[in-house]
Amino acid sequence: MPLVAGVDTSTQSCKIVVRDAATGELVRSGSAKHPDGTEVHPDHWWTAFTRAAEAAGGLADVAAIAVGGQQHGMVVLDTEGRVIRDALLWNDTRSAGAAESLITELGDGDRAAGAQRWADAVGSVLVASLTVTKLRWLHDSEPENAAKVAAVALPHDWLSWRIAGYGPAGDPSAPLGPDLNALFTDRSDASGTGYYDAQGADGAGEYRPDLLRMALGRDDVVLPRVLGPAESGGVAHPSVAGADVDGGALIGPGAGDNAGAALGAGMTPGDVAISIGTSGVVSAVAPRRTADGSGAINGFADATGNALMLAVTLNAARVLDAAREVLGADFDELASLALRAPAGSDGLVLVPYLEGERTPNRPDATGTLHGIRLATSTRPHLARAYVEGMLCGLADGLDALRAQGVPVERVMLIGGAAQSPAVQEIAPQVFGLPIAVPEPGEYVADGAARQAAWVLATAEKAGSEPTTDAGATAVPEPPAWSATIATTLAADPRPVIREQYARVRDLV
Ligand code: XUL
Repeated sequence: MPLVAGVDTSTQSCKIVVRDAATGELVRSGSAKHPDGTEVHPDHWWTAFTRAAEAAGGLADVAAIAVGGQQHGMVVLDTEGRVIRDALLWNDTRSAGAAESLITELGDGDRAAGAQRWADAVGSVLVASLTVTKLRWLHDSEPENAAKVAAVALPHDWLSWRIAGYGPAGDPSAPLGPDLNALFTDRSDASGTGYYDAQGADGAGEYRPDLLRMALGRDDVVLPRVLGPAESGGVAHPSVAGADVDGGALIGPGAGDNAGAALGAGMTPGDVAISIGTSGVVSAVAPRRTADGSGAINGFADATGNALMLAVTLNAARVLDAAREVLGADFDELASLALRAPAGSDGLVLVPYLEGERTPNRPDATGTLHGIRLATSTRPHLARAYVEGMLCGLADGLDALRAQGVPVERVMLIGGAAQSPAVQEIAPQVFGLPIAVPEPGEYVADGAARQAAWVLATAEKAGSEPTTDAGATAVPEPPAWSATIATTLAADPRPVIREQYARVRDLV
C-alpha cells in the first residue's frame, strides 16, 4: 500500500504525518520546533524538517510528499540560490506603512479607491502580512538587499525546492544546485502574495508583474511556477524522501496553511471553519473569491480549485491565556469558572483587542472591559466575559463573510482552544448555529498528505510520470478521507451576548 507524507512548516514548528494513500490512516508522525521571532532564516525550517522526518522514522518509503506552510513569509534569493536576509514572516508588522503607501498609490492618492482596486486585483486589501508589502519595505529600507533579489519564494515553496534537492550553490545538502526556475508553488499560497490574481486569465490564475514592480521597483525576478491542485512539481531528492520507491517520491504543489487545513478537514463550499489558535481564522470555501474593499475578508484560493475566504483576528487563543493569567487558573479551571456565570455574564463585556486587531483593522487598539459592577466582579463573570469576547470577535468575522454573500451551511470549530468545554458550550450560543467539532489533529499536515495522495493518484492515472499537463490527466477529486467529526453541538442562540458586545465594540 503506498504511503504519502504531509508536512506543515508552520510558524512555531515543522510537523510531518505519514499516511496510507488509499485510506488516510496515520502510520507515523514527527515534529521539531522552529525558533521564535517574526524574522527567521529559512535554514532553520530545513533543519527542523530533517529532524521531524527523522522523528517520523524517515521518508524513504513515501511515494509522494507535499508541504503546507505559514502564508505570506518573504524568502528572497540571489542568483546563487542563497537566502539574502532572514525571511520576514506573516506576523511581522514592520511593513504596515508600506501597505498603506501601496494602497494609496494604487488609488492615485485616494485610499478608499486604492483599497477597492487591490481587492479587485488580488482579492485582498493590503495589510503588513502580505508579501508584496514586505518587498516594498525591502526596497525602501534595505536597497542593497533589494538589488540582489533574483527570486522571491514563500516558506512552503522554498522547502519544496530544498526537498527536490535544490538550494544554495556549494551546499552539500543541495546536490542539484541553485536552479531558480525549478521553484514552484500552488494557487492558495500564491494568492496571499499580493501580486497573484487567482481568478485572472479566465480563472486559471496569473501573476501581476505590474504590482510586483510597484513594490520592488522591478519585475525581473523569478517567481515560482504556479501548479494546479493535483500537479506534481518534480521528484524528491532520494537523500530526502522516496529512496525505496520506484521512480522516487513525487512532490505535490503544497498549500498555504489555511488552505491545507481546509483540505485536511474536508471542507467544501458551504462549510465554514472557525480556527482558534494563535490567530483566529474564520474561513470558507466558495466557488469564486470576493473582492472586499473594506479589507475584512481576504479572497484567497483554496487547494482544490475553489476560492478560500478568510477573516483573520489577532486575538484568539491568547485571550484565553490572558484570562488564565489574570485569574490564576489552568485550562480546566478557566472553563469551569466561565460556565458558572450566565450567558452575557450579567453585562460584563470584554472587547478583546489585546494585541490591536487585524479584522477589524485596528492595529493600535487595546482591549476594554465594560459593565464592571460589584455583582459582576467575580471570577466566573470575568472568565465568561473573556470567552464570550473572543468568540464575539470571531462571530464578527463570520458576519463579514456573510456580508460578502458567502454561503454558510455548516460551521466547524478547530484549533487548540476548540477543545475547551467552555468554548464548546458558549460557541453555539454566540454563533447561534449548530457546530461540528472534528477530532483534534494536525489539519495542515493532513491536508498536505491528502494532496500528496491526490497527486499520486493523478500520476498513476497518467502512467506514473510526474504530469506537466494537469488539466489533461488530473483525477478531479482528492481521495475521500474526510475528518472524523467527534461532536456536533446543537445551536443554542443567546442574542444578548452579541447585542451587548455590539453596543461597546466601537467605543475603543
Ligand atoms: C493568513 C495568515 C495566517 C498565517 C499563519 O492570512 O496570515 O493565518 O498563514 O500561519
